[in-house]
Amino acid sequence: MKTPNSNSKENSKSQFHVRVLGSAAGGGLPQWNCGGDNSIRARRGDLSVPARSQPSIAVSSDGERWSVINASPDIRDQFSKFPGLHPTAGTRDIPLETICITNPDLDHTIGLLILRESLPYKIVSTPWTRDAILKHNACFRLMKSAWTGAAINESFFLDSKKYLEAQFFAVAGKVPIYLQELEVNHPEATVSLRIRDNRTGKQLVYAPGLKEYNEETMNELQKADCRFVDGTFFTENELLTLRPDAVPARTMGHAPVTGPHGSLERLATLPGRSLYIHMNNTNPMLDSNSGATAEVHKAGIEIAFDGMEFLV
Ligand code: MLT
Ligand code: MN
Repeated sequence: MKTPNSNSKENSKSQFHVRVLGSAAGGGLPQWNCGGDNSIRARRGDLSVPARSQPSIAVSSDGERWSVINASPDIRDQFSKFPGLHPTAGTRDIPLETICITNPDLDHTIGLLILRESLPYKIVSTPWTRDAILKHNACFRLMKSAWTGAAINESFFLDSKKYLEAQFFAVAGKVPIYLQELEVNHPEATVSLRIRDNRTGKQLVYAPGLKEYNEETMNELQKADCRFVDGTFFTENELLTLRPDAVPARTMGHAPVTGPHGSLERLATLPGRSLYIHMNNTNPMLDSNSGATAEVHKAGIEIAFDGMEFLV
């Protein structure tokens, strides 16, 4: 006879699982060279400002085998903290199926080098991103045999059971700083990912870098049941107030949360679940007791945190 527990375990084997591996932007929280308020409080262990690793999520169609969206420099520690991605005891079998890369940013790709010891998984990015990384960064060629390109709107499956069907879609973005003298911007340079569970039709969008919320992007976000979006900066001039030589949020490729055409007012109009991810260490949303966090929650938007898990 099945116990209620075994029933729910059976059910979870046919559901779309999400685990937030890391929720901060590049540098994480605390950032090693940062003496800003959030970093100081996170270092001190202040419970209102929990430490966060660099941005990545894992998804699964059965809670047993996982795919990862973006490979952060913290991937080793993120896997170690997540039993779902531990190897089977006594083997080197790891339940990792696909790693998707949404752009060549270092906080989205350095993790590939950390996983270089073997390649039992596949890597998928746009051809532009794969080619730009492989052409200009020789060490990434270790991963070449596992790395396929998927053009914008070309379907591929994340899982071997072929339940989670994914496509990249174009969004306004930029070429990462380290490639700016080597490559010009291209529609495939910054993309977001839509993932559809073919059993239920439920859709998740992952969009950690969004320079603007234009009509096409809003259409994509609107269709999703659940969306992770760029939460880098709370205000357009957040970095400028700390460092006069810094650039405004949009110039860096990140629409701010607040202000005219900010993300909060756009997300507040959408049905389903919206979560901010990729928060920079300057963002007041990192303090759970701040007015910024209250404002976001009041609009019905969530702030992703490391270790967060849910079903779509
Ligand atoms: C970061 O994670 O710090 C930013 O994405 C960097 C950038 O946009 O250049
Ligand atoms: Mn980043």
